[in-house]
Amino acid sequence: MNEFKKHIIVTGGAGFIGSHVVRLFVNKYPDYQIINVDKLTYAGNLANLRDVEEKPNYTFVKADICDFETMLQLMRQYNVDGVIHLAAESHVDRSIKDPFTFAKTNVMGTLSLLQAAKQYWESLPEKYDGKRFYHISTDEVYGALELTHSQGITPPFSTKASSGSHHEAYGETFFVESTKYDPHSPYSASKASSDHFVRAYHDTYGMPTIVTNCSNNYGPYQFPEKLIPLFINNIRHRKPLPVYGKGENVRDWLFVEDHARAIDIIYHNGKVAETYNIGGFNEWKNIDIIKVIIKTVDRLLGNPEGYSDELITFVTDRAGHDLRYAIDSRKLQKELGWEPSLQFEEGIEKTVLWYLDNQEWMDNITSGEYEKYYESMYSNR
Ligand code: NAD
Ligand code: DAU
Repeated sequence: MNEFKKHIIVTGGAGFIGSHVVRLFVNKYPDYQIINVDKLTYAGNLANLRDVEEKPNYTFVKADICDFETMLQLMRQYNVDGVIHLAAESHVDRSIKDPFTFAKTNVMGTLSLLQAAKQYWESLPEKYDGKRFYHISTDEVYGALELTHSQGITPPFSTKASSGSHHEAYGETFFVESTKYDPHSPYSASKASSDHFVRAYHDTYGMPTIVTNCSNNYGPYQFPEKLIPLFINNIRHRKPLPVYGKGENVRDWLFVEDHARAIDIIYHNGKVAETYNIGGFNEWKNIDIIKVIIKTVDRLLGNPEGYSDELITFVTDRAGHDLRYAIDSRKLQKELGWEPSLQFEEGIEKTVLWYLDNQEWMDNITSGEYEKYYESMYSNR
């Protein structure tokens, strides 16, 4: 164990984004020991990490972040000097049905991890020197923006912009790092709460923390209850595509490997106690991105153009559905030199191809328990 230069716990490493972070760190830093701590909930899947599981600098531990004693024991056992915390309940629709699980994992789990790191690091002679607790959060904590002029309907500058809580960039309104928190779903409320706890551990105990808030990710290994993999799979199986409301909500999409690269840069070069927004200035109305997905899947499957348009099915809107998210990531770009590597067209092509080429990965998830969940989610719409 001691031949490694650093010992980093990545929580939630068997999930979508976590698996990309683990892969990047394990491959790029053979002198770091990467300890993936994951409970393997329905969203955790060790098949996401088949290509790195035999690497000598990778270790998997099945554990619940809410279990404080185990977290403390892991900190000691592996001489942990860094935590990259991604483990969470992450799906808004599930949070509407079961808010308690979200409060437990996202709030109490984060607190248990913070307290374990604090107790361990404070017991060392060097204390917090060379340590880092990096918490991965979401743009959803900032609430919802109005649509812009070009997106139609509402005026370009919301009342919030004029009160200074949103920043005007590129003539529009975006979330900046100082935007006031205004979460609306049980998911975003739980993430907001966990962000506050992380900052409180810096302000109260001097723990070297960093928080980042990222926009919607897309790419390989995303659990198929989220829009993009769900729709790719449904098109393939000629199942309905459930569009919430009128499909007018706007999301800001970032390729997952670009998020993982940002996490790497920020983990190494980010300033303690800072917040960085991560996003690629890539906003899409749901209905427009859905049309791009349909067109791409049909083309790659050899179907005639327009073949799957009839699968679009407008369903009851998500309760409290945030209208628009849009991240201003210029602080990260200017201060740390990160920028997205992929154009959206390239990213979505890669993503659709990946899901079509990895049907077995998809089938393993979509059979059994998941099928029952999916039916129960949509049976009452
Ligand atoms: P995911 O749902 O795909 O994966 C979550 C992982 O956490 C799973 O492997 C699961 O098994 C694990 N986990 C859940 N509860 C746990 C517990 N109690 N103990 C240990 N492990 C547990 O999530 P994701 O989409 O990869 O998101 C990862 C993180 O990034 C989350 O914190 C999420 O809030 C944040 N985020 C996600 C997005 C996005 O678009 N997906 C965007 C911004 C931020
Ligand atoms: O913004 C970052 C967030 O992005 C992350 O913090 C969350 O963990 C992640 O799940 C994601 O949240 P969203 O709710 O935006 O993602 P989702 O894929 O569930 O939905 C994207 C949009 O598509 C949203 O406006 C709801 C809509 N939608 C979704 C599904 C699953 C549909 O219209 N139909 C669907 O079946």
